[in-house]
Amino acid sequence: MSTPTTQEVTALFQQTYGQAPAVIARAPGRVEFIGNHTDYNGGAVLGAAIDRYVWVAAAGNSSGRLRLCSATGPAVLELPADPGTRITGSDSWANYPLGVWRSLRDLNLPRPAGFDLLVVSDLPAGAGLSSSAALELSTTLALLALVGATIEPGPLAALGRHAENKYVGVPCGILDQGTSAHGQAGHLVHIDCRGPAFTVVPFPPSAHLWIFNTREKHALIDGLYATRHQECLDAAKTLGVALLADLTPAQLAEKNGSSGGLALPAALAQRAKHIVEEHARVHDTVAALQRGDLAAVGRLLTASHRSSQNLFENSTPALDTLVNLLEPHPAVLGARLTGGGFGGAVMALTKDTFTAADVAEIARLYAVQHGRTPEMIHLQSADGARVIWRA
Ligand code: GLA
Repeated sequence: MSTPTTQEVTALFQQTYGQAPAVIARAPGRVEFIGNHTDYNGGAVLGAAIDRYVWVAAAGNSSGRLRLCSATGPAVLELPADPGTRITGSDSWANYPLGVWRSLRDLNLPRPAGFDLLVVSDLPAGAGLSSSAALELSTTLALLALVGATIEPGPLAALGRHAENKYVGVPCGILDQGTSAHGQAGHLVHIDCRGPAFTVVPFPPSAHLWIFNTREKHALIDGLYATRHQECLDAAKTLGVALLADLTPAQLAEKNGSSGGLALPAALAQRAKHIVEEHARVHDTVAALQRGDLAAVGRLLTASHRSSQNLFENSTPALDTLVNLLEPHPAVLGARLTGGGFGGAVMALTKDTFTAADVAEIARLYAVQHGRTPEMIHLQSADGARVIWRA
């Protein structure tokens, strides 16, 4: 959908529910700039909130029922106050707002007894740009506003992650929700996931972010993510640390038997090597950004992709093709898969000499190999989640 105005969201809400909304909240999607799967390993990550959003309009209702509707969906989904089980099938998107509503109770925050809620989005779903986190955060802000409450970005991100971990069942870290909550236009969000502690790092105005969405999504994507998560926990346990980011690359090499027998099976050793080196790359990227060395930033991004491809094994042939096409281009600084992997999108960091014709040529060469054109999006960094309108 193209970017809706507040008036359009209000009109759609009125048409859907026969009453006006009381509040509209908006949360941005994110790109994972660098730090692939470092978050739940206690490492660092850099993300950018982006100028593509999920809007949630809401009003209380007197029926004590939860009514949910997506602007792209066929009908209003009406649920009793606590449906109990997880929703499956085409309505499964409702687990996100429902998970938020349950999480408000879990975290002793106020919530409306019943509500009407409308979701509108211009974020492509399945592109690895975190439409789920944006939905969690905009729902949280809207439901709290209905009962006259507010929330700071830190607890907002934590609540969204709680909803996703407990009620959607994905063992994600804090990257998506943290970036969407703390985003700042013209900046990247740095998260030290151990705290978590959030800071921002200026993003150079001469650099550009492009997304090339393969439009492919592995059927087992959630299961594969959970498998990688478990492998990392198993590797940490065998190595005798709480989390993999507790180790430097040198300590990992030493512990994993550079002088003696190997502690880890080969696959787990690769996962661990990826995590500890990726954590170090995030640190190096911040330093390169601070000294204005965009060429070094680009090299770190592409090195991150190669590590995901070869060690963490969460890339796909389509993602690799895009990186292979982008890497040698003189106006491209670096390129890597962004997000969980196993499908989704490649992010390219480019100079301002990267033209629409260059983008089209990459897309054409990709289509020759993969039979379809990727979706291409030029993104700007954006501000974080907030209430944007009240009656
Ligand atoms: C997904 C998860 C994040 C993070 C990334 C990989 O986006 O939701 O928490 O683990 O994958 O870095």
